[in-house]
Amino acid sequence: MSSQRKFFVGGNWKMNGNKQSVDKIIEFVNKDCVDPDVEVVVGPSAIYLDYVRQKVNPAVGVAGQNCYKVASGAFTGDNSADMIKDVGCEWVILGHSERRHVFGESDQLVGEKVQYALKTGLKVIACIGEKLEEREAGQTEAVCFRQTQAIIDCIQKSDWANIVIAYEPVWAIGTGKTATPEQAQEVHEKLRKWLKEKVSADVANSVRIIYGGSVNAGNCKDLGGRPDIDGFLVGGASLKPDFITIVKARK
Ligand code: 13P
Repeated sequence: MSSQRKFFVGGNWKMNGNKQSVDKIIEFVNKDCVDPDVEVVVGPSAIYLDYVRQKVNPAVGVAGQNCYKVASGAFTGDNSADMIKDVGCEWVILGHSERRHVFGESDQLVGEKVQYALKTGLKVIACIGEKLEEREAGQTEAVCFRQTQAIIDCIQKSDWANIVIAYEPVWAIGTGKTATPEQAQEVHEKLRKWLKEKVSADVANSVRIIYGGSVNAGNCKDLGGRPDIDGFLVGGASLKPDFITIVKARK
C-alpha cells in the first residue's frame, strides 16, 4: 500500500541561514537530492524564497514556512499565499508546532490558512502533533484528530490531492528525542484509519503522512521503513548534507 505513495522529504530550514549558507545547501541539494523516486521540498525563510526558487533544481519544490489567509492588506510582517506563488514556489508549511505554540495559532486559524493557500493554488504541508503533557495524559490521538478535523472542516475532499500531513510530536522537535519507529507508525496508522472514516478510503490510502521530529541520518532508515510513514519533515538535519541520506532513506 505504501509503495503507491511517493516518498516525500521536506526540509524545514526554520529561521536559519544567510546567503552564504543557503548557497551551500542549494549546492548539495542540486547535486545529490534530485531523485525521481522521492518528492523533495525545501522550506527557506520567506526572505530567501525567491532566491532559492531561482537557484534550486526545478525538480525540487520550494515551500514557504507560513502564510496568512488573505491575498493582501494591512497585516504588517506577514506574507500571503499569493506572494509565495508569485515568486514561483509550489508549497507552504502550515500549522507547524512553532506557529501553534510560539505564535499562538489556533486550530481554526490553521484550517483557514490551509483553505486559503489551497484556493491560491499552493500545495500544503499541514502539521499536527501533541505536546509531551498531552502524550503523557493519553491524549495523542485526540489532539491529532482535533487538529486534523479543523482542517477537514475548511476544505473539500478533492483538496486532499494537494495536502501532505506532517505528524510532528512537539516533544520530539529539536530535542534530539525522536519518536520510536513504533510510536510514529502507531499514530500514522491510527490517523489513516480515522481519515478513512472522516473523509474517504481513497483519501486515507493516498494521502502522504510524513514524520517530523529529530529525524537524522542515523534514524531515517528505520522510520522510513514503516508502512505508514511516507517520508519526513526535517528541521536541523536539513541544513546539512545529512539531508542527502534522509532523502535516500528508502534506497
Ligand atoms: P528537527 O528535525 O530539528 O527536530 O525539527 C523538526 C521540525 O520541526 C520540522 O518541521
